Amino acid sequence: MKNLIAANWKLNPTNQKGAEDIFEQIKKSVKNTAEEVVVCPPFIFLPVLKGLALGAQNCFYEDTGAFTGEISPAMIKDLGVEYVIIGHSERRKYFGETDETVNKKIIKALAVGLKIIFCIGETEEERTAGKRNEVLQRQVQQGLKDVVDIDNISVAYEPVWAIGTGNNCGVAETKESIDFIRQFVKKDTRILYGGSVKSENSGDYIKEAGANGLLVGGASLNAEEFAKIVKSASIAV
Ligand code: PGA
Repeated sequence: MKNLIAANWKLNPTNQKGAEDIFEQIKKSVKNTAEEVVVCPPFIFLPVLKGLALGAQNCFYEDTGAFTGEISPAMIKDLGVEYVIIGHSERRKYFGETDETVNKKIIKALAVGLKIIFCIGETEEERTAGKRNEVLQRQVQQGLKDVVDIDNISVAYEPVWAIGTGNNCGVAETKESIDFIRQFVKKDTRILYGGSVKSENSGDYIKEAGANGLLVGGASLNAEEFAKIVKSASIAV
């Protein structure tokens, strides 16, 4: 099984030229990697970036209809895009996503043949209150409710407190969470780690924490740093 290294650009960069520049640099620097690399830019750049696997950062749970401002899984699939991130904590926090809407999105995206990076993770408060496992179990079970075939799903463990903070989750703690999540998915389901991944810490998640890939936010906007992260995953296995 190849490791999956996904770049989550979030709401960056502000223009097409900038997106093309980073993308071309990433393309060049990961050319010979044995890992699976996916770039997830804002929707609007998906049709113009070519030559690496792409992912959307979100989707809606209906294919067409009166849903102003939404983008459907069918539209994403039609562009030749392979992946979609669903349930990212920023969507849950700022855009009202719940386990229920995440589940609807997963079901619809799978139905059109998209591969999914399904994000789960506990907040700082939940961690402090000792509720991490409870939260992970709820998110994974409700997100995957009525999903019969999870072959096209990778789960990304992203502790919310570690995202964008520079405070990445320790290897031992990540391993505990990955081992815990593993019991609710298949033996060969990829479980990624995300949250302040940098080239200095990336290899350890694969080598020591048992992650089968990484979801990289901030560091994926720097092609050189992202390439180092991809490389660390290859060296690590
Ligand atoms: P970060 O983001 O690497 O900037 O912490 C990860 C993510 O939100 O997917």
